[in-house]
Amino acid sequence: TSANGKYADRFAGQLVLVTGAGNGIGRATAFAFAEAGARVVAVDRDAEAAARTAELSRLVGAPAAWAEAVDVSDAQAMERLAARVAAEYGVVDVLVNNAGIGLSGSFFDTTPEDWKQVLDVNLWGVIHGCRLFGRQMTERGQGGHIVNTASAAAFQPSRALPAYGTSKAAVLMLSECLRAELAGQGIGVTAICPGLVNTGITSTAHFAGVDAEEEKRRRQRAARLYGRRNYPPEKVADAVLEAVVHNRAVVPVTPEARGAHLMS
Ligand code: NAI
Repeated sequence: TSANGKYADRFAGQLVLVTGAGNGIGRATAFAFAEAGARVVAVDRDAEAAARTAELSRLVGAPAAWAEAVDVSDAQAMERLAARVAAEYGVVDVLVNNAGIGLSGSFFDTTPEDWKQVLDVNLWGVIHGCRLFGRQMTERGQGGHIVNTASAAAFQPSRALPAYGTSKAAVLMLSECLRAELAGQGIGVTAICPGLVNTGITSTAHFAGVDAEEEKRRRQRAARLYGRRNYPPEKVADAVLEAVVHNRAVVPVTPEARGAHLMS
């Protein structure tokens, strides 16, 4: 339980859509909104994972929850999703563009295909979400909130994360520009910037394609850089709800992310 009663019923009557809700931070965020009384749309390209999150969201308190199997980097699929959600569930009050993939490797180890893949998901996925659901919010005229999951990597250069860091720096800037644009319409925009969080992204996808020796080396470097990788996704979810309630702009989460943000 992450919303810890602090925000009990705070989101009652609201519709919250979370992308990448099948695992990790997105799943914890969906549960936290569910505990706070929201109706939840759990979007993930992994249909089974999305369905599990929706089912558990109902169990922990969401009056309703739905699963949508969509790849956020697919512009047409996202357009269909936005139309379907508006027609069937209503206008989204809180959009959490959380879906993202990890990619590590030096600049010269990063192929054009790697760049395309990470930018398609981490940046274009956020752009599609903001355009489509942000438009619905502005047309309704009753405010709302958009949370984009960036990363401490957005303001902390690392030679191990050129493509990932670039994608997240872009998400951070996009969020700040959109925040300025939507401020007059009662729509808040937040960039959440976690450091290393204990999810699948740092144990599997993040190290995809590297051998065991290299993985060990990278883990040691990450541990030196970021400290112990035991920060629970539930605490990031708490920070997301807090950011929406208090309309925060840029939120570094985890101690090392806060440190890196102060230095940036
Ligand atoms: P995760 O790998 O545990 O979960 C990500 C979820 O997103 C998975 O269910 C996956 O199926 C889904 N997903 C991936 N690509 C997708 C796509 N194209 N369309 C729809 N769904 C997609 O990862 P985690 O750690 O929960 O990451 C969530 C977000 O947090 C990402 O944007 C990540 O970059 C960011 N982040 C994570 C940190 C960490 O240390 N875990 C640190 C900073 C930021």
